[in-house]
Amino acid sequence: MAETQFTPRVFSGIQPSGGLTLGNYLGAMKRFVEMQDAGQFETVYCMVDLHAITVWQDPAALRQNTRELAAFFIAAGIDPAKSILFNQSQVAEHAQLAWIFNCVARMGWMGRMTQWKDKAGKNTENASLGLFAYPALMAADILIYHATHVPVGDDQKQHLELTRDVAQKFNNDFGTDFFPITEPVIGGPAMRVMSLRDGTKKMSKSDPSDMSRINMADDADAIARKIRKAKTDPEPLPDTIEGLKDRPEARNLVEIYAGLANTTPEAVIAECAGQQFGTFKPRLADLAVERIAPISARMRDLMSDPAEIDRTLGKGADRAREIATPILEKTYEIVGMLRSG
Ligand code: AMP
Ligand code: TRP
Repeated sequence: MAETQFTPRVFSGIQPSGGLTLGNYLGAMKRFVEMQDAGQFETVYCMVDLHAITVWQDPAALRQNTRELAAFFIAAGIDPAKSILFNQSQVAEHAQLAWIFNCVARMGWMGRMTQWKDKAGKNTENASLGLFAYPALMAADILIYHATHVPVGDDQKQHLELTRDVAQKFNNDFGTDFFPITEPVIGGPAMRVMSLRDGTKKMSKSDPSDMSRINMADDADAIARKIRKAKTDPEPLPDTIEGLKDRPEARNLVEIYAGLANTTPEAVIAECAGQQFGTFKPRLADLAVERIAPISARMRDLMSDPAEIDRTLGKGADRAREIATPILEKTYEIVGMLRSG
């Protein structure tokens, strides 16, 4: 079969489940902006509200968190004129294609997902069916746009492999090459931001200690205080990257610095080798405030006009549908669903 050519197109999504952290910024958003500005791809970015409700969300909080996430995208540099920016539930094609993929993916594939195992815990009887099927919806998010590249943090790698398996199985089952085999885009500096209290744990909005994370909504004082109090060891910074190997907290701070400064951990080490944390932490705090405070200020500004955010997302959804509708129609036709013409 001739190789189908796909338009270079990026898709990625973030759940509007509240509490945006520096991990979301350095691990996801910053790269979304870079990919938009590189101009090599069409970029499609989505607030995945249908994914969020796989665990309980208070309705008023979900609405608020969706708007706040939209404000974060825009404040961080996503331009709704350049990228398609919208929330998932406004484009029904995601859920429609997800149903088809529920019938392509196998129970065994879903049962092997580590995120399912982590989130459902021991009591799988009580987890939602949506939580189990979550990766099929994620595959639909990506493939409803024939996206060729998906930037995510490495915790999503397994879900992307499943997306490739779904595309492959669909293509094989129906003797077609309709769906692309999407490439994950993982890596770069600070791709995994760790807790400020424990360098072996991911920085997360769900950590009980607020000192473990920098929230995008933190003010300058809070950012500086959290960095000053971040856990470290008594040694100065080493003169090579290898010297950070068994020093997870030190390594995390170097990586955060590199991410915020748009450089590499190697370059940070070259510049700061031998420095004590008493010197390095204030530098990092200044840099973090300089980069994050303008984003949170712009977020607050945008949030003061929720109707404008809603209009922006509505327009984004219209543009998203222009791509998604014909792809869903073609999928139905391939599967053998009768269309009335
Ligand atoms: P979440 O808020 O967990 O739904 O994550 C949204 C996006 O941010 C995903 O692409 C995650 O991989 C990324 N992300 C969240 N926390 C971190 C972190 N601590 N380090 C790197 N990336 C993260
Ligand atoms: N599962 C992703 C997360 O929790 C969010 C997501 C949903 C996503 N659909 C996607 C990411 C499609 C990339 C592409 O972070």
